[in-house]
Amino acid sequence: MKQQLNSLRASTIGLLSQIADIKTLNDARSRILGRKGDLTGILRGLKDLPIEERSTFGQLANQIKAELEVEFDLRETRLREDLEHSQVMSESFDVTLPGRRLPLGRSHILNRVTHELLDVFSGLGFQLAEGPEVEIDYYNFEALNMPKNHPARDMQDTFYFSDNLLLRTHTSPVQIRTMETHRPPVRIVCPGKVYRRDADVTHSPMFMQIEGLWVDKDVSFADLKGILYAFTREYFGEKLGLRFRPSFFPFTEPSAEVDIQCVICGGSGCRTCSSTGWLEILGAGMIDPTLYGFVNYDPEIQSGFAFGMGIERVAMLKYGIPDIRLFYENDIRFLNQF
Ligand code: PHE
Repeated sequence: MKQQLNSLRASTIGLLSQIADIKTLNDARSRILGRKGDLTGILRGLKDLPIEERSTFGQLANQIKAELEVEFDLRETRLREDLEHSQVMSESFDVTLPGRRLPLGRSHILNRVTHELLDVFSGLGFQLAEGPEVEIDYYNFEALNMPKNHPARDMQDTFYFSDNLLLRTHTSPVQIRTMETHRPPVRIVCPGKVYRRDADVTHSPMFMQIEGLWVDKDVSFADLKGILYAFTREYFGEKLGLRFRPSFFPFTEPSAEVDIQCVICGGSGCRTCSSTGWLEILGAGMIDPTLYGFVNYDPEIQSGFAFGMGIERVAMLKYGIPDIRLFYENDIRFLNQF
């Protein structure tokens, strides 16, 4: 019987080390230690033993039972700990995984270029001026010498909220607003969004302009040329020439369209400049004296010039961007290049 008890003890301990879940453990516990279990089975043999041996083996059996119960308890504790640990691990995260990078934002290329241009013009003594994108007819057209039914309005059809309220078609209304509230000398640049009823490969219904205005005594066309030369040198590089072509704007007289020597080929002719060697970059002219009447300046004393250019156009030339629509598609692969 001693041998039976010892081998039960040994086999139970061996079995315990292999049990991996609590249900199997409980089944084994009742199979071995339960009321109809293996140990009880062995103890049934006690009654066949001589009286003096019964108590010895009875004691041994109780001792082994107590010992095995402790072993079962230990195993159960261990299995519960393992279970809890694996639950925690499956709910939490793997701290050894590399972290997820948060993508860093950056300025849109058009804002970058706007600030580059403002830098150049502030170096030339121009101050920043801004105005509303929703504009009244008077500032966008009337006070710029474009009365109702003026044919020049055709090229600048826009989006109307009412007969009188519209999305501005250029940044020129900021000139009028500034002159209305400031006495000369006035020397400003006004960047911002403008809107036109226009949409194709090179035109977008919303785009950006930057416009300059300088009004003082004795400001001449030579000053306009000097400023524009200084600007192109500074922004596009030393060697590029400018070309002034006569043009018409209702708010300037005389007016010019200004071309810059092609930034791609330097003037020898390429695809970008359609083999002409020149690229149109801005409109400009001397302020038409009629405008001074709208803002209470004396046309006999004041003179000045204005110029305006498309920021997308400048950005396309400076950074070799082939299609205006790229600016607005928000494709991160495009935007990240700048
Ligand atoms: N406002 C004109 C336009 O948008 C550009 C311009 C500005 C021309 C200033 C001359 C002087 O077409």
